[in-house]
Amino acid sequence: MKNLFSVLRSDQVADDLIQVIETIVDASKEIAFRVRQGALAGVLGSTQDENIQGETQKHLDIISNQLLKDLLLACPAVAAIASEEEDTVVAGTSTGKYLVAFDPLDGSSNIDINGQIGTIFSIYRSQDLIPHGSELQFQQTGSQQVCAGYVLYGPSTLLAITTGKGTRCFTLDSTQGIFLLTADLIQLAPQTQEFAINTSNARFWSEDMRAYIDDLVLGETGPRQKRFNMRWNAAMVGDVHRVLTRSGIFLYPSDSRNPKQPAKLRLLYEANPMALLIENAGGKAWSESQRILDIQPQQLHERVAVILGSADEVDECLSYLRR
Ligand code: AHG
Ligand code: MN
Ligand code: MN
Ligand code: MN
Repeated sequence: MKNLFSVLRSDQVADDLIQVIETIVDASKEIAFRVRQGALAGVLGSTQDENIQGETQKHLDIISNQLLKDLLLACPAVAAIASEEEDTVVAGTSTGKYLVAFDPLDGSSNIDINGQIGTIFSIYRSQDLIPHGSELQFQQTGSQQVCAGYVLYGPSTLLAITTGKGTRCFTLDSTQGIFLLTADLIQLAPQTQEFAINTSNARFWSEDMRAYIDDLVLGETGPRQKRFNMRWNAAMVGDVHRVLTRSGIFLYPSDSRNPKQPAKLRLLYEANPMALLIENAGGKAWSESQRILDIQPQQLHERVAVILGSADEVDECLSYLRR
């Protein structure tokens, strides 16, 4: 089986970018170890603190953030980082060529129940004309990502990654501490009978979004004339991994709960990296009215609606929203 770094080298990924990926992978192996140890490593439970977005931070949110932050800031190729758990951008090496945005621990509500959790990351080139360490460095569209991926801490530890040439999955061989290629050049089927959405928010969605989901639930008795199955992990990494593995559609629509915050998932370190992984696997990733990778970010922690997965099903959903 090929290992991660031999695949990256055969794709002619630049050495300094490989260095950044290696750093993220090293941090994720340390996180994976602590996740496996669970209560024994003191990683469960909440802290008294909140992040800038008003979410209570779990111990593992903080531990994972610190591990990634320390290793990335020590990597000479990294110019700056942005994290869900950091208020603002943190500057790294001034000559570093790359920016890393990350969700250190996705699926925080699953930590204490031994459920699926993960780390999501996105890498950009730093921009010469913008001051080092400035937030403006991160105002690039998702289509400018040079690499995106996630590490899923499930029954096995998996890395899904793209550097532009397809999307691949590697499984951590914990006896050797290396990631081995286990799914090469993944291709999503255009059609699907599986959807993932938190339906408890239905009353806050637009009428058109409700109509789309209602028709999925009607199955063979409704206008879609086929049966759909629903799955929800409450961790985007787990839900997107299911879509990458067996196709499907994942949705976190905008809603009217909080007018100042019409969506839940963050563009820079949740929507964009997942969108690149899905598109490079032949899928589609939209944010209701535009392609996610075309969105011009305005703020570090901005949130967007997410509809991604099997291309024909995403189109079907968008056709309801355009009615
Ligand atoms: P995070 O744990 O990084 O804050 O992200 C949580 C996100 C995402 O993982 C998931 O899709 C969604 O929140 C789950 O939301 P619900 O609470 O609505 O299930
Ligand atoms: Mn969070
Ligand atoms: Mn998250
Ligand atoms: Mn998180």
